[in-house]
Amino acid sequence: MKIRKLGLLGALVLSGVFSAGYAQNDVEKRVEDLLSKMTLDEKIGQMNQLSFFAVDDKAIAQYSDDDMDTFLVRMGIAGGQGQKKPSEMTKNEKIKLIRQEAEKMLDKNFTQPIKEGKIGSLLNISDPEMVNKMQKAALENSRLGIPLIIGRDVVHGFKTIFPIPLGQAASFNPQLVENGARIAAVEARSTGVTWTFAPMLDISRDARWGRIAESLGEDPYLGGQLGAAMVKGFQGNGNLADPGSIAACVKHFIGYGAAEGGRDYNSTYIPPIQMRNVYLPPFHEAVKAGAATLMTSFNDNDGIPASGNSYILKNILRDEWKFDGFVVSDWNSIGEMIPHGFAKNDKQAAEISTNAGLDMEMVTGSYVKYLPELIKEGKVSMETINNAVRNILRIKFRMGLFENPYVDTKKSSVLYAEDHLKAARQAAVESAILLKNDNNTLPLAESKKIAIIGPMADAPHDQMGTWVFDGDKNYTVTPIGALKGDYKHINYVYEPALGYSRDKNTSNFEKAKQAVTSADVAVVFLGEEAILSGEAHSLSNINLIGAQSDLLKAVKSVGKPVVLVIMAGRPLTIERDLPYADAVLFNFHPGTMGGPAILDLIFGKANPSGKLPATFVREIGQIPMYYNHNSTGRPAPEKVMTLDEIELEAGQTSLGNTSFYLDSGKDPLFPFGYGLSYSKFEYSGLNLSSNSIPMEGSMTVRTTLKNISNVDGTEVAQLYIQDKVGSVVRPVKELKGFQRVFLKAGESKTIEFQLTTDDLAFYGRDLIKKAEAGDFNIWVGGDSNAILKGSFSITE
Ligand code: BGC
Repeated sequence: MKIRKLGLLGALVLSGVFSAGYAQNDVEKRVEDLLSKMTLDEKIGQMNQLSFFAVDDKAIAQYSDDDMDTFLVRMGIAGGQGQKKPSEMTKNEKIKLIRQEAEKMLDKNFTQPIKEGKIGSLLNISDPEMVNKMQKAALENSRLGIPLIIGRDVVHGFKTIFPIPLGQAASFNPQLVENGARIAAVEARSTGVTWTFAPMLDISRDARWGRIAESLGEDPYLGGQLGAAMVKGFQGNGNLADPGSIAACVKHFIGYGAAEGGRDYNSTYIPPIQMRNVYLPPFHEAVKAGAATLMTSFNDNDGIPASGNSYILKNILRDEWKFDGFVVSDWNSIGEMIPHGFAKNDKQAAEISTNAGLDMEMVTGSYVKYLPELIKEGKVSMETINNAVRNILRIKFRMGLFENPYVDTKKSSVLYAEDHLKAARQAAVESAILLKNDNNTLPLAESKKIAIIGPMADAPHDQMGTWVFDGDKNYTVTPIGALKGDYKHINYVYEPALGYSRDKNTSNFEKAKQAVTSADVAVVFLGEEAILSGEAHSLSNINLIGAQSDLLKAVKSVGKPVVLVIMAGRPLTIERDLPYADAVLFNFHPGTMGGPAILDLIFGKANPSGKLPATFVREIGQIPMYYNHNSTGRPAPEKVMTLDEIELEAGQTSLGNTSFYLDSGKDPLFPFGYGLSYSKFEYSGLNLSSNSIPMEGSMTVRTTLKNISNVDGTEVAQLYIQDKVGSVVRPVKELKGFQRVFLKAGESKTIEFQLTTDDLAFYGRDLIKKAEAGDFNIWVGGDSNAILKGSFSITE
């Protein structure tokens, strides 16, 4: 009766003929309906992701001459009989020919297979017109009209580049991180990107590893809090269908950051308890925050490559965490199980990965090629395929891609919007860490004449850092750019002295010294080019590279105050440089607005508040050194012996037999959580609501934080605990809470942390997470060496 009243259209809607007739929460029904109509090839097509290539003149023009010539010859377009040689062609001629060829390949490699339902996702396509063209082939020209999901590495901003993730982590500010991800999502989605391969939540305790730049540092709690914030930012706080949202992809599952020796792609050896307590928690937090997808990692852990590890993909991710999104491989990580020696060929690799629960294959193409045979042979079941496709379709429906697949190319651009740049500037401000500030060298009075020295003072490309595919260096504002803009009233002289960070040519050092002589103070911008960190960019030496340390010394020899500003992709070993700088401001590559942000800090318009998200070691040989290591049986005493103190022919046991290095001691250069401010903060009166809490109970931790200086500032207050005796050995300290507290000069506040026994739970020998009754130490302070200490216990 009701149906009749609604008329024919209504009846059709109710009967599901129009997909728009489903309520958004009918996703499961839509998935099953669609799945029931799909052929096996169409299903496997959804599990296939291919990388797109550029077909527009602008992108082709960026290829090197050599690459263009090779392409022209290889494709038989030039250099053959009766054809012109590449050397006889103008660049424009070459571009035109390459584009024509690329267009032909485009049809064969992408448009046709999409129409046949053989591709479920593309990555690295960022031209909106092209996205629409491909999406049209999927929606209007394929049998079932399933939209593509378009992936891109939007790692720390899309066009407006934010500080690298490690820098954002230094802010200890989840809201700031969420906003940054939101802005990246809005910009990326406006060009047709619907899925980012971020956040990267690999715990890294090794600054040699280039990808530490993309990480949120060494701590599982910080990584989990900020990772969840990033997921929320990308995904519109759960509103995946919002036109400003993109799906997040939490990567790399799992253990990739523990690459042995910090050498990228290397094997990892993470035992189960450590895996559970250190490496998995950030991923779990991200899944709880609703992450739509996950990416497997390249590494094998103790012999099992992640892309073939059913225990992590099924038992942990699906059964324990109830994850219902989809899992994508990393770039060719399925194929790479062959060189790993884990699969004998692509066919076996496809079998292993599908059966392990890896839903979508990035670029290798072995699913499309071999799954039909593998099914016939009974090596992969239809149910396995159906489940993978369900996972993928579920996300496509949740994202509203069926209703909203196209990019509105007429909309006015949101790229580099003013409020985006403003947010990027604030993010860069909050990400900078003040490591040293003798005699209150900083902030500088604006009336001072400044000598600006060093290769990073005007490095628009390098300042953006690694994993920037879309950001344009022409929009970067460097410190020199800011001195021509917001800070044009400053009197300065500029002498870079080195052309780039690796430069060893010292011939301009005299000029630099003259510049410093003519000024009141020197600000020296050193660091790393962007290419020195990121994927496959590991280093075995993390000193300031090239002749940079020598430049700093030369500048210092003039006798003026020296401010060292570093922009780098990782923690560096800068102990040898510290004596030559009165103040040190460390920035992990700060992004598009790094220049003005740094000047805001240097001139005191902003006050540094960043804290180190990773330990800074004194010597590279101390790595791995991290604050939350397990208690050893022979902890080093407060003061350890140094090499110089060892007597000649000292007795074998006279040095104390404890855990430290004879040549570099027991401590890092700067501990996790460290960072100074122009303000001075004092913690006093640690007060616990109870000194003993029952299992499942909670307590409130209070302390008074006072700004004892005459400068307003923000302190990141940190709470650490130690479980003194456990059924397995526990870390010496673990971060369990942090908060940014703004205090006016002289102001004091009581700050509060809530702590539950759940926060104190960990995985022991049975790999079940639970808190254990017993005694705990607790500290609150401004870094992981916090001294304000209390104790409590959990009772049975
Ligand atoms: C990286 C991933 C990235 C993928 C796609 C791989 O080489 O390891 O992190 O998302 O490429 O660009």
